[in-house]
Amino acid sequence: MPSAVNLHLGDDGILVAAMDLPGRPLNVVGDALMTGIAQAVERLTEPAVKGLILTSAKADFCAGGDIDRMSRWTRPEEPFEASLAMKRVLRQLEQQGKPVVAAINGHALGGGLELALACHARFALAQPRLKLGQPEVKLGLLPGGGGTVRLPRLLGIQAALQICGEGADLSPQKALSLGLLTALAPDREALMEQARAWIAAHPQAAQPWDQPKFRFPGGDSRAPAVAQLWAIAPSIAAQKSQGNYPAVQHIMSSIFEGGLLGFDAASVVESRYFAACVLSQVSRNMIATLWYGLNALKKGASRPTGLAPATVGRLGVLGAGMMGAGIAHAAAQAGIKVVLLDTTQEAAERGKAHAQGLLDRAVKKGRRTAAQRDEQLARIQPGTDYALLAGCDLVIEAVFEDRALKAEVTRRAEAALGDGAVFASNTSTLPITGLAQASSRPQRFIGLHFFSPVDRMPLVEIIVGRQTDDATLARAFDFVLQIGKTPIVVNDSRGFYTSRVFATYVMEGLAMLAEGVHPRSIEAAGLQAGMPMPPLALQDEVSLSLALHVADQTKTDLAAEGRPYTEHPGMAVVRRLCALGRLGKKVGQGFYDWAEGDKALWPGLAELYPVAAQQPAQQELMDRLMFAQANEAARCFEEGVLRTVDDANIGSIFGWGFAPFHGGALQFIDAMGAQAFVARARELAARHGARFEPAAVLVQRAASGKRFTQR
Ligand code: NAI
Repeated sequence: MPSAVNLHLGDDGILVAAMDLPGRPLNVVGDALMTGIAQAVERLTEPAVKGLILTSAKADFCAGGDIDRMSRWTRPEEPFEASLAMKRVLRQLEQQGKPVVAAINGHALGGGLELALACHARFALAQPRLKLGQPEVKLGLLPGGGGTVRLPRLLGIQAALQICGEGADLSPQKALSLGLLTALAPDREALMEQARAWIAAHPQAAQPWDQPKFRFPGGDSRAPAVAQLWAIAPSIAAQKSQGNYPAVQHIMSSIFEGGLLGFDAASVVESRYFAACVLSQVSRNMIATLWYGLNALKKGASRPTGLAPATVGRLGVLGAGMMGAGIAHAAAQAGIKVVLLDTTQEAAERGKAHAQGLLDRAVKKGRRTAAQRDEQLARIQPGTDYALLAGCDLVIEAVFEDRALKAEVTRRAEAALGDGAVFASNTSTLPITGLAQASSRPQRFIGLHFFSPVDRMPLVEIIVGRQTDDATLARAFDFVLQIGKTPIVVNDSRGFYTSRVFATYVMEGLAMLAEGVHPRSIEAAGLQAGMPMPPLALQDEVSLSLALHVADQTKTDLAAEGRPYTEHPGMAVVRRLCALGRLGKKVGQGFYDWAEGDKALWPGLAELYPVAAQQPAQQELMDRLMFAQANEAARCFEEGVLRTVDDANIGSIFGWGFAPFHGGALQFIDAMGAQAFVARARELAARHGARFEPAAVLVQRAASGKRFTQR
């Protein structure tokens, strides 16, 4: 087995250690890499070796910990020992007395940044796309390679809390301004030159924390200014996380306790918290979905196989409203030429102006240059003439949610398009198979359901109509990846997957209101359950009139199909408020009175829905909100609306913010076990209605013990 770290000793006595994990596309921290680094440390002890440069022979520096290995751990001793073993090597690296420099030529994330932190100086390429950071918290983990020990000692406790607790990526420029990097280099050659020069200038190097009179920048955990921070940081974190993310608390504890201890004791404390995180159900949930599930989807698990990947060179967008403008912007950003059509030139220009607004902001924040903005804007051609669609590989319509209008624009667009072009609808509610009836080639008709606001929402729900062919699905899938979004693929159904399940959350909250549950308790339950927004506020945001419109449309459609329509009890609440003109945020009044930047629950709610003397336990409310969603997701799975478990889980988190710590709507069931889920769902059904009767697929799984995810 070749070593994971190539060692090359130059004539200048500098040992270059280039990480290059065999058989893996990225360098990840595990036994193989650490053995290679340990070998480098050993060579460092040789008298001829004057210093060491740690760099990488791959495109990244080091992407982080080896998640596969972490997933195999079952006993706390395993992560604890592994974490300490890594840190023993890093301790030797930084305590040899000889200079060690990190030459960061690509992403240095998680364990990768921790390797760099154990070097005496850090240089990085000045590429804005290069990412540094401690993202462990996003998978329910804690930096276990010394991140919570070295960062507070290098940058101060507050900065360390931010970097480890929020897990945001840092650009090299940002990292430099924080003091995390020593300097930036324009290219690889300069990077190595700088590293060599630093070694030459510092023949003897030691870390600040190994100096006799070391002090934490800004003070340790006892310092008055830091003590103030400790008085508020935990409550801010608790408010944000509702206590649902143990890693957030463990990171704070590790930094706090480490801030009272010497380096090596702090290091042991960190490893204990690391072990607690790795084995937590929350990290298991997040890793299953946000790591394995997401990677599988991005690699095309839901894409038909055997079809060559395709890219869109020219895109047509019909309707330059909120969604159309957002889609045009996203595509132009990915380098695609866009024709943006509306009924008047002004309307089309307004759509382009939306992109301009977003880009101006990006320029102001330094994320784009003015030249990049102009180049991107030039790709969007606003107009009214459907003939401009000639040569488009894909057209997405985002006109008003009206069947007849959608049929008309479909026919007009197809008349201008070549045979191979794909036509997609961004409808949020109308079944795709029905819309495809207006198409002269329904096999090339598909749903591409974007979420609002398009520039911020990462998901696109691809809806396969009854006649949509595989080639069309593959092209739509490739397009979504091309614009940097995450695709999930679902079969056609009313509300598809995301809107259908999302509605059960909001409607359950509304039903509680009708039963006399205090509105504040309902809203608190939504947040405590880990949802990003509480049900009543959310209904106000999406508007009550939209819910009413969708319900009425569904009723009409089902009647035409001769099928029964059962209305959710929450809809009666929508009807009642709509009748009072309380249509939601867009008119300034709904469940809340909306004022500029502020909102307050409407006092009149108490008269419409008097609060019952006997209030249910919060847990009952939280369970109702979560079981309603998970059960509906299971029904979608059972009916074949969902094709894969990853689509379900990722779609729920990225689409409507299903509590990420549960790992998604089906992982919620897996984590609890189908048996426990079914038992609780039946209790809820007995008390609150048949909608809680567990899906048949869950009853079967409760008997067989089969899970959705096999990971
Ligand atoms: P919007 O009202 O902001 O924009 C619709 C645009 O279509 C208007 O600018 C209108 O002038 C234009 N239009 C009308 N007839 C046209 C024609 N014959 N040719 C070209 N343009 C025409 O609506 P929005 O919110 O952008 O929604 C568009 C579609 O996206 C709808 O189907 C909606 O259901 C769907 N959708 C909306 C979401 C949302 O959050 N607003 C989310 C996901 C999908």
